[in-house]
Amino acid sequence: MNRHHKMDSADRQNRLDGMAQGLIGTDVPRPDGMAKATGTATYAAEERREGMLHGVLVRATVPGGRVADVDTDALAKALGDDVTVITDARLLQVPAQGTDGKAPPQGPDLVHYVGQPLALVVAPSFEVARHGARLLGIRYEGGEEGHFDPEDDATPTELRDKKTVDIGDLDAAMAKAAHSVDAVWRTPGHVSAAMEPHAAVAWWEGEHLTVRSALQMLKFNRDELADALGIPAENVRLLAPFVGGGFGSKLGISHEAVGAAIAARQLGRPVRVVLSRQQVFEAVMRRSETRQHLRLCADEEGRLTGIGHDCLVSNLPGQDFAEPVIQGSRFAYAAPNRHLSLRLARVNRTCAGSVRAPGEAVGLTALENAMDELAEAIGIDPVELRLRNVPEEDPTDGKPFSSMMMAEVLREGARRFDWQRRNPIPALRREGDPRREWLRGMGMSLLVRGNILDEAEARVRLLPAEDGAPVRAEVETDMTDIGTGSYAVLSQIAAEMLGLPMERVTTRLGDSALPPSPGSGGSWGAGSSGSSVYLACLELRTRLARALGCDEGELTLRDGQATGGNHSRPLAELLDGGTIEAVGHIEPGKTAKERRQATYGAQFAEVEVSRHTGEVRVRRMLGVFAAGRILNSRTARSQCLGGMTFGIGMALSEELEHDPRDGHLVNRDFAGYHIPVNADVPQLEVHLMEERDPWANPMQSKGIGELGICGAAAAITNAIHNATGARVRDYPATPDRVL
Ligand code: MOS
Repeated sequence: MNRHHKMDSADRQNRLDGMAQGLIGTDVPRPDGMAKATGTATYAAEERREGMLHGVLVRATVPGGRVADVDTDALAKALGDDVTVITDARLLQVPAQGTDGKAPPQGPDLVHYVGQPLALVVAPSFEVARHGARLLGIRYEGGEEGHFDPEDDATPTELRDKKTVDIGDLDAAMAKAAHSVDAVWRTPGHVSAAMEPHAAVAWWEGEHLTVRSALQMLKFNRDELADALGIPAENVRLLAPFVGGGFGSKLGISHEAVGAAIAARQLGRPVRVVLSRQQVFEAVMRRSETRQHLRLCADEEGRLTGIGHDCLVSNLPGQDFAEPVIQGSRFAYAAPNRHLSLRLARVNRTCAGSVRAPGEAVGLTALENAMDELAEAIGIDPVELRLRNVPEEDPTDGKPFSSMMMAEVLREGARRFDWQRRNPIPALRREGDPRREWLRGMGMSLLVRGNILDEAEARVRLLPAEDGAPVRAEVETDMTDIGTGSYAVLSQIAAEMLGLPMERVTTRLGDSALPPSPGSGGSWGAGSSGSSVYLACLELRTRLARALGCDEGELTLRDGQATGGNHSRPLAELLDGGTIEAVGHIEPGKTAKERRQATYGAQFAEVEVSRHTGEVRVRRMLGVFAAGRILNSRTARSQCLGGMTFGIGMALSEELEHDPRDGHLVNRDFAGYHIPVNADVPQLEVHLMEERDPWANPMQSKGIGELGICGAAAAITNAIHNATGARVRDYPATPDRVL
């Protein structure tokens, strides 16, 4: 029995508000937390199979040309026939990020960037395989030529014309504006930096392939892997019960899964391929660097008359993905004249893809720096400038907002941060420092992120009491938990709807044999898969109510007791020793097209800058967020803390460096690529504001996962300006750029 729901209109049932336990929105701990903290939760690289072999990828050392010859003589001489070299063409045809599962157009033996996986060396131990990988002799033909700098005049570019927004006359608005900003920002490439490196263990039973791996979206990944291998999707099963972070890098399958599957088939034994950190940097994918030309103009009162955002990003030849930098600029602020464009440069660098809130993370950062510059030019407070430009509807296409808390988060943030203490004149505050070295400043930014609902299915089962134990429930979906709290949130929804304590609900995730979800990505996970669990539970409640003799709306389930109308019976009695189950299915509908759905945040930062060295220390940060109904305040808060922390990284230290001669990635580990460590992160404060969005999904929640990074870096660089007077437009704000 199924309960299907398509979001074609606002869903005002509000079922979760009336529930007896009041669990939703509370800080329920992760049921998987203890297993993770004690190391009993195993990750893909820890999977052990009988007779398992180990594979190590061999990567291109040139940025182009083709593979002319693979010389295995030295390898065979040193290691004998224990070692197998796999140069299967399918290894090179791994669908990359943003290609919608289609194999990239580069030919089977063509090289496109330094670090591209070309072969897999398989041996009985990891060490032997790694040694073998070093002994493999690959000879290339041609390939000295390439394009390595997106901004070089010779580099080919394409305008993404479908993304262009051209409303009114921005040039005219700029020419006659009372105040304007016209400048260029640059953000460097970023790596997703998931803690768990990519890994896959593959084994075959006849025609059936099972792969334990680290993946975000199992249904999609299963189709991708089947496509890459040329086998039916029904023959592939993916397992990813625990994933140590994704941040976009595990949205698609990559070479370790394809390589392990090919090798396992060829050798008739399970094969494990684990990427080193350097390989993750080089061969998985990166966030594109951006060049962003921003033009803002406003009247005397600080009302925006125009917004221009023209961007250049890069990717490999033939790859479809283009960092959607202008996404948030479509709707963040009202302005009658608007010109937004996105251009893609074709460079021979590691493939670009979705990393930590693609689009808004970098786009809002530059926009929010420009807004700070505009506020200074007009001479009004930066919070006030934003409040004067809150849009009443989507300013690009005129759609109404589903729900929107932009003004509320700005006001609440300013109040909680004591924003009024900020001195609007830069470089004046040095309190508390007798040596007068440290300049102090405050900055803020608006955060926005679009909200997405995707098709999802889940099965929920109510099982009868056994040996006097109370009734329990099982939740099943192929949803993943990439550290975000899916186990907690989905269990919590079922516990709330069925009136069971958390420990009576078991949630099974991360198995492609379970009902399909859209997985974890784009902040859609909890809302989409959570809605399918909610709907399955609604169906179960309806059946229980019928058995009790009342309407579902009257039914109260609590402590194993069902009450409704004039009836009250133990749940166990209603089940009568049997099991009931239901499948919930959510599908996006008209509301996704008819309403602008977005989440809002306001972030505030106070920094200190050494006037001798340019060192920046973040002293405190506050983020205020509104994302519809909050399902679990603990996991939601953790997501926001993570986003704010990435904001610190983006502002101060994160930067991929490419060698201009061949595009190769120079900093390929966490010694050279600096993500914030504990010493960089002060006490961060997160405040979640109450909101309901009936257009988003039946739970009235919106995605919060990525919101915390969408503009976060700008609060810090705006604070640096307030502290020092320096405008940093080239990220990150390293000391040389701050002084
Ligand atoms: Mo995300 S960057 O959609 O995992």
